[in-house]
Amino acid sequence: MNIQKISSTPFSDQKPGTSGLRKKVTVFQTAHYLENFVQAIFNVATELKGNMLILGGDGRYYNTSAIQTILKMAVAHGVSHIKVGTNGLLSTPAVSHLIRKNSAAGGIILTASHNPGGPAGDFGIKFNSANGGPAETKFTDQVYTGSQHINQYSIAEIDDVALNESGTFQVGDTLIEIIDPVCDYADLMEEIFDFDKMKALLDGATLNICFDAMHAITGPYATEIFQRRLGASNDSIINATPLEDFGGGHPDPNLIYAKELVERLYRGEESPDLGAASDGDGDRYMLLGKSFFVNPSDCLAIMTANAHLLSGYKQGLSGVARSLPTSRAVDKVAAKLKIECYETPTGWKYFGNLLDDQRITLCGEESFGGGSDHIREKDGIWAVLFWLNLITVKQQSVEAITRAHWAEFGRHYYSRHDYEGLESGTAEQLMKGLRERVKRLKGETLNGHTVSVSDDFSYIDPVDHSVTNHQGIRIIFDDESRIVFRLSGTGTEGATLRVYLERYEANPDLHDLETQAALADMIAIAVDLAELKARCGRDQPDIIT
Ligand code: G1P
Ligand code: ZN
Repeated sequence: MNIQKISSTPFSDQKPGTSGLRKKVTVFQTAHYLENFVQAIFNVATELKGNMLILGGDGRYYNTSAIQTILKMAVAHGVSHIKVGTNGLLSTPAVSHLIRKNSAAGGIILTASHNPGGPAGDFGIKFNSANGGPAETKFTDQVYTGSQHINQYSIAEIDDVALNESGTFQVGDTLIEIIDPVCDYADLMEEIFDFDKMKALLDGATLNICFDAMHAITGPYATEIFQRRLGASNDSIINATPLEDFGGGHPDPNLIYAKELVERLYRGEESPDLGAASDGDGDRYMLLGKSFFVNPSDCLAIMTANAHLLSGYKQGLSGVARSLPTSRAVDKVAAKLKIECYETPTGWKYFGNLLDDQRITLCGEESFGGGSDHIREKDGIWAVLFWLNLITVKQQSVEAITRAHWAEFGRHYYSRHDYEGLESGTAEQLMKGLRERVKRLKGETLNGHTVSVSDDFSYIDPVDHSVTNHQGIRIIFDDESRIVFRLSGTGTEGATLRVYLERYEANPDLHDLETQAALADMIAIAVDLAELKARCGRDQPDIIT
């Protein structure tokens, strides 16, 4: 077998963001673009030589083509064993599990998560380390630096590998194994949750669910788990077939994009008891009850308060963590349980050390992410099973569980406002302005609310003591209201400003306000502080979640 060394020159834009390198498909199709980045990964992850690599993606356009390239490069770099999902499919949580289960040296996941797909859509690539989690910033920084000095890459001259069914191929010193993408993951779920209890209710349709796979990766996983193993009805899964362009949709599980699901859950009494959706690569989830939405921050708090009721978590939680912008609902629960609650920067990679060091059992993000120490990624199907299991144990509806939680701990009204497509320079200036402004905000009263903390969030990792700066502007008021500003790190065009708004209400008589109305004061303060109108000509967000 011949290993070719192909000359190449660097691309200046190969800096990974919040979650890997994401670009338009057309950018990845540029000659040598993918190869350069993969070479940069192999140059840093030298442990892959002689070890196992897990490889798969969310099935979006360009997935299989990229997999063929990566297989050839992995062979050239002496990877001894590569496990690839059939048809190149593997959800992000499944990759994390397979790395851990097989003691692989790492995994490459091809996904742009919840971003749209298709020839005009987005593509992405990220590397997960031996612990199953997204590579740390130190690693991605090294990959980026390396990508800026690339002058060649190595690739084996071999035929494309047939990905359409399970099988093994020996290519030189490399064993390429095409595996069922679902069964190992489904087995793990069966170990964690009380499948018998759930099956008893789902099989006889005492409990009805609707899961929207959004034509993305979770279709096959949901079919195996909810229908085959748990006996849910045939109509319990919608948009179950993974498509290269996600059926033209936007595979982001929120109230705007999971339209069909929302419509089914808001039909009154005839609606299913539980509705859920997951994103492109299966790590996000949205949860609904009958005509009732539970925001992801509340989901984390409710899971934390109730985990001990599930057999998989009956020993209790070692601690919990949430990203900075996630509401502080979980903090109230952690305080009551007397467990540690960590506040990390945005992005799942910051939970890795805390999980590895057994400081936390559960973690979550406001952006529809939840997970536990079972893997090192957020996990959409796991979260839905957690809720299903909880409903079967408590014998209460999603709404009743949530309302009881608010009554006990108080309610955190919460919303995120996204201003998309800003010119990057303008957005940077806006953040710079805020950074200056927050230095002297403490003690000021804005719209009747007095500022008690205002800073530019820095994180010191308690395990390896690494420091991450400039992770978001946070302004906390003495009535526990809060505003956080940060720029998105996952977009592929211009800049997106995210404004996170929160207000705490202890009084149960005031737990039925409309969210935006409840947050009106914070919204007005945020628009004013960021000078959104003057700087960007905007005072209305593009997306409200
Ligand atoms: C977004 C979310 C963040 C999540 C990331 C990857 O990143 O806000 O919580 O970890 O996607 O799914 P952002 O675009 O805000 O940088
Ligand atoms: Zn995702």
